[in-house]
Amino acid sequence: MKKVITYGSFDLFHEGHYKLLQRAKALGDYLIVGVTTEGYDASRGKLNVVDSIMERIEHVKQTGFADEVIIEDHVGQKVEDIQRYHVDVFTVGSDWTGVFDYLKKYCQVVYLERTKGISSTMLRARNYGIVRLGIIGAGRIARRMVPEAKYVSGLNTESIYHPKKEKAQAFAEKFELNNAYDDMDAFLESVDAVYIASPHETHAGYIQKALKQEKHVLCEKPLALKGAQARQLFDLAQAKRCVLMEGIKTAYCPGFIRLLGIVQSGEIGDVRDVEACFTKLEKPDTRELTDPLYGGSFTELASYPLLAIVKILGKDPQSLRFETFADEKGIDLYTKAYLRYENSLATVKVGLGVKSEGQLIISGTRGYIVVDAPWWKTKSFEARFEDSAMNEKYFSKFLGDGLRYELSDFVSMIHGFDGKNYKLTRDESVWLAEMMDRFLEERRR
Ligand code: CTP
Repeated sequence: MKKVITYGSFDLFHEGHYKLLQRAKALGDYLIVGVTTEGYDASRGKLNVVDSIMERIEHVKQTGFADEVIIEDHVGQKVEDIQRYHVDVFTVGSDWTGVFDYLKKYCQVVYLERTKGISSTMLRARNYGIVRLGIIGAGRIARRMVPEAKYVSGLNTESIYHPKKEKAQAFAEKFELNNAYDDMDAFLESVDAVYIASPHETHAGYIQKALKQEKHVLCEKPLALKGAQARQLFDLAQAKRCVLMEGIKTAYCPGFIRLLGIVQSGEIGDVRDVEACFTKLEKPDTRELTDPLYGGSFTELASYPLLAIVKILGKDPQSLRFETFADEKGIDLYTKAYLRYENSLATVKVGLGVKSEGQLIISGTRGYIVVDAPWWKTKSFEARFEDSAMNEKYFSKFLGDGLRYELSDFVSMIHGFDGKNYKLTRDESVWLAEMMDRFLEERRR
């Protein structure tokens, strides 16, 4: 019996996929089809796959060409599969010509002519249209967003808004955007969705304006500085049937999601402690170190450690205490927050004027996990145990500045796929805003 194998994402199953499978089957007697997992696709930079893996497998099965469907979830798997299943022919479309020649050591490699004029990428754009994105703010984070957006299909960065026209124009020129505005209404008119990267205290106002005009919103953390305000904004988003998402890049990156899955599966037992640190030395003239009302380490950096804590321990600490070193203006240069939960403790450590190891350590009753610095760009972590022979290291990709992951989920949610909501829920964002409020309240006293 001649065995043939082929692989693909098979997203939004189309004629090109059908014909490929039909011809692959005709190359032998038995066809094995490998369908990629979402995690594997994300790790190789293929974002925005729309159909779930179960749907994609179902579509492949429905063709009747596949005798067996398997899941592809890691690099190097093709070599393993070909040997394990005693495969005679490996085949893929001609868009991959040459890429899999290394498999010729194990079996015959055939590149089938690709069906012209159709692809999942084209269908995504056609079915869902291109989301026109506008950016509010022209600072450091806004500048990172434009190159990242280029990696997300179905999205085009169209306009920039800044209250100072010259700044908006300079930004638009640098990043070759179509429009630069200092007029909010005209700006909102030109886009479907906005990304807000302005100073913290302006977020809520901009979110409200955008939602009122029925524009979807992705807002940099902290989304709001008061819990009640965050709640109102999410209510407004719901009323307007718009997506409102808080942009904490860690929440959406593959490594952090994998980490949470491992913690939640009980690998290190019951979690008793979470310690998360983020420090970043800043120049004295930056907004973070000059704004006595909203600057400082906590408002600037604590969203990340708090994200890890809320994801692992939840939203109901029994107590919360802050310890801070502030400068003469009252801006906190270094802050520790201590949270006590029913069965666990947590510590946040943030500093703009103190440098420390940017680690996340999660301790449990069976073992602990150390996420290497910078843990908020989760690339590698290790589960460690009393018996060190059991230790295991995990690796994930964190591509570019990592904003492409949240952007990709933002686009999926705009298209009505809300399966990604769990990565950072409304209630978690509200809790994060409450924490900001409690800190600022205490600092004002
Ligand atoms: N394929 C094909 N003809 C097309 C599109 C895809 O023969 N018009 C083949 C690919 O070469 C591959 C298989 O179908 O062997 C699965 O490809 P996949 O990457 O899932 O499909 P694309 O439509 O190319 O997806 P995307 O646009 O997301 O890259």
